[in-house]
Amino acid sequence: METMTKNVSVEKSKTSKISEVDFNNLSFGSVYTDHMLVCDFVNGAWQTPKVVPYQPITLEPSAKIFHYGQSIFEGMKAYKDENGDAWLFRPLENFKRLNKSAKRLAIPELPEAYFMEGLTTLLQVEKDWIPQNPGSSLYVRPFILASGTGFHASPADEYKFIIACAPSGAYFSGKVKVLIEENYSRAANGGVGYAKAGGNYAGQFYPTQLAIEKGYNQVIWTDDNTHEYIEEAGAMNIFVRINDTLITGPTSDRILDGITRKSILEIAEDQGIATEVRKITVSEVVEAAKNGSLKEMFGAGTAAVVSPIAGFGYQGTDYELPELDNSYATQLKTYITDIQYNRTEDKFGWRYPV
Ligand code: COI
Repeated sequence: METMTKNVSVEKSKTSKISEVDFNNLSFGSVYTDHMLVCDFVNGAWQTPKVVPYQPITLEPSAKIFHYGQSIFEGMKAYKDENGDAWLFRPLENFKRLNKSAKRLAIPELPEAYFMEGLTTLLQVEKDWIPQNPGSSLYVRPFILASGTGFHASPADEYKFIIACAPSGAYFSGKVKVLIEENYSRAANGGVGYAKAGGNYAGQFYPTQLAIEKGYNQVIWTDDNTHEYIEEAGAMNIFVRINDTLITGPTSDRILDGITRKSILEIAEDQGIATEVRKITVSEVVEAAKNGSLKEMFGAGTAAVVSPIAGFGYQGTDYELPELDNSYATQLKTYITDIQYNRTEDKFGWRYPV
């Protein structure tokens, strides 16, 4: 049966897979809920979004996504509090960034109502899939792909906006060991590094594999020109604590405007932590590791929230970071997740009811 909210129709799945899922042992992003949102761009316009049963999509081999990688995505989470109420975290920021990415990849921008109503309608249908277990959430993956066909290297004339969801546990378990990259780059000036383009992530896989073969978990990306500046941590923004100052790089063509990144900066400032948004050199981090003033490094992103770094490798030498009782990583992760799970007052106005 089809029902219609303002803009979004809902076709319910006849069966549910939910009883097959062990909510106490969730990995990250590997089981999917019963429904998804689909919204097609055809004849020059985005059509009414639909919630439909989760299912494969059919594309022609000549669809431009396969040839020119015209695709973008977002990462979000839905959280359930102890009363069973569900929340999103700053979803309008994801909407705005999706359209920023769309513009850069010559994808038609999506109307806000289609994104927000599509998202909330889907999540209301999937509410039982939002885990209540500590540390778990429903990872929400909005994405747009070029479904229009043609081998001509030009933007497609048809697109699909889809939202799929996966009940998920932690992205990383424990601290990670990282390698400061001196050769490969994830982004360049004038490029697409600030966009969440699928290819930005595919381009990381090979250098990351090489780092894993050397015994590291992740790569720390440095600037493409000189490799003298630290820019991102794997698929996340990076924070460095030297003495008591928390530092992160400024957003640019090459650095993603992370929602966790900017929330952490605001929280840190509110909590009286000295923050600096400025370029971070590899040499100052190495020097600080040598003289003991490097207290912490961590990645920040939606998937992993805050991912503490145990140590880093650079030019054949490994540097370890100290174990701290009161780390900024723990303090900031606790506070941001308390907001996300409705365990504390929302003084910044970031929670959004589903
Ligand atoms: C996120 O933190 O949501 C990301 O975009 C990382 C993703 C590649 C898992």
